Parts: sequence; structure tokens; C-alpha cells
Amino acid sequence: MSETTVLSLDEIPKKQDFGEKPTKRRESDNYQAEYVKNFVERWDELIDWEARADSEGRFFIDQLKELGKHKVLDVATGTGFHSVQLLNAGFNVTSADGNGQMLIKAFDNAKKYGHVLQSVHADWRWLNRDVDGRYDAVICLGNSFTHLFDEDDRRRCLAEFYSVLKHDGVLILDQRNYDNILDKGFSSKHKYYYCGDKVSAEPVHIDDGLARFEYAFSDGSKHHLNMFPLRKKYMRNLLLESGFQTVETFGDFQETFHDDEPDFFVHVVKKSYAKNPDEAE
Ligand SMILES: C[S@@+](CC[C@H](N)C(=O)[O-])C[C@H]1O[C@@H](n2cnc3c(N)ncnc32)[C@H](O)[C@@H]1O
Repeated sequence: MSETTVLSLDEIPKKQDFGEKPTKRRESDNYQAEYVKNFVERWDELIDWEARADSEGRFFIDQLKELGKHKVLDVATGTGFHSVQLLNAGFNVTSADGNGQMLIKAFDNAKKYGHVLQSVHADWRWLNRDVDGRYDAVICLGNSFTHLFDEDDRRRCLAEFYSVLKHDGVLILDQRNYDNILDKGFSSKHKYYYCGDKVSAEPVHIDDGLARFEYAFSDGSKHHLNMFPLRKKYMRNLLLESGFQTVETFGDFQETFHDDEPDFFVHVVKKSYAKNPDEAE
């Protein structure tokens, strides 16, 4: 993709099309054409806002409040779940996403909760070109970072997230427990994130460079996402190599866990030096 473009709404295809060899599609730009209108319309069936709010509880709100953060940039807004939760809790939120269909859906969802979303159509790789100001916190949630296939893109995006944060800012980024999927095969408690009970989300192909998931809905329709399976240790190192000072990793929102238990990891990543060296992991 050229530096100036995120796809306009007209340019987003009507249907997903991975070509003849879907497992060969391993590009960071894929996300723009993967989140087509039909899939975006159904996304909230997949995640079920109420069940997800129950399962996540106040985790993100409490993390941000405990750290005294107020001005938040949601870089992977999607249909707006976390932006709306944070707006409801009184945070100042800017909602960015590189996919226009997602932003439209997020805007409509936020309206239902009485909010006018401050939204920015921006790809993470050029985030600071499109987003003004500095933020207390950046959130990149819902297993979104996995959309980046090239290591250069990952490093570039983390540099952009770092740069858009104030000097003592915090990045909260989550991911699936891909170590488990790669090493032991897929299983899910379906307790977090994909909470909808009428939709299945299962991998149809896994190798070290690709996790291709199929999302099957009750009416028989199917959509797919091609994602890069980020290992936890790799992700934590990448965050530290990008200049962040500390990474604290939670497993399914718990501080202590065995690595093979959680479905999801959440990394709470600080930009500033820890005053107390014991705070650094
Ligand atoms: C799996 S969805 C998650 C949405 C939401 N955070 C949630 O938890 O429901 C991933 C989102 O990341 C966005 N995204 C992926 N890669 C991106 C990039 N390079 N720049 C901007 N947005 C991106 C997609 O458009 C999509 O809305």
C-alpha cells in the first residue's frame, strides 16, 4: 500500500476475496479488505458486547485509572466496544482505525450509547501523520496487532504508538495465546472477547507464519481473517526493543497464570522508567 492510502469506503471490496491460495495471503495490508461491510455488520454478533463487558469487567478502566490516565487513543477501534466502555466511564477517547467500515459501525454504536465518537481514519504505520496531540494511553485491543505480518511493520507501528504517547504514557495491547495454538492445537474457553454463542471462531490453518481463522455464523455465512501468530515472548521482547521500559503481562486478566491456561494475554506497557527497579519484569 502506498504511504498516502487507507482504502476509501468505495474501494473496500463488497466480499472477501483471498484469491486461489488463501494461505499465501500474508500481508499487513490485508485487514482493509478483510473487514468488508457484511462481516463488519456481523462482528458484534461475534463478540457480544454485553457478555464481553461482563467477562472483562473493569480491567481496562481500573488499569488506566490506577495509572492516572485520562486521554486515551484507541488505535484499533473496530466496532467501538472499548471506546464506548471508556467513554461511559468518563475517559476522553479518540477512536482510530484503518478500516472505514469499522469506523462507521463504531460511530453508530457509540451514538446508541449517547456519544459522538471522535474518530480518525488512520493506519498505524502512519499514525502520527493523521493523529494530533499526545495521549496518556494507547489501547490496541481485541487481538488486533496480529494483523501485521512483517516485522518491519510491527516495529514501525510500535514506534508510532510510542511517539503518540506522552513521556509517561502507557500502551495496553492484547493478543491471543498463540503459543498454545502453535504448540498444542486450538482450544478456547469462549469466555473472553469472542463471547457470542451463535458464532464459531476456529482456525482452519496454522503454521509459524499464519493463523487463518474462520468465523461461521448461524445463517451459514462464513468469513475469514489471516493473522500472524505472535508468540508471547517475541511480543514482549519487541515491545522492550521498541523503547518501552516495562511490560507487565496478564493472562485472561489475571496477574498470575500458567502460560498454557489463558486464551488471551494483555500487555500493560510503560514508556517511562520504573522508579523502583522491582517494578520492571
Ligand atoms: C480484530 S479487530 C478488533 C476490533 C476491536 N478492538 C475489538 O476488540 O472488537 C482489529 C481492528 O484493527 C484494525 N487494524 C488492523 N490493522 C490495522 C492497521 N495497520 N492500521 C489501523 N487499523 C488496523 C482493523 O481494521 C480492525 O478494526
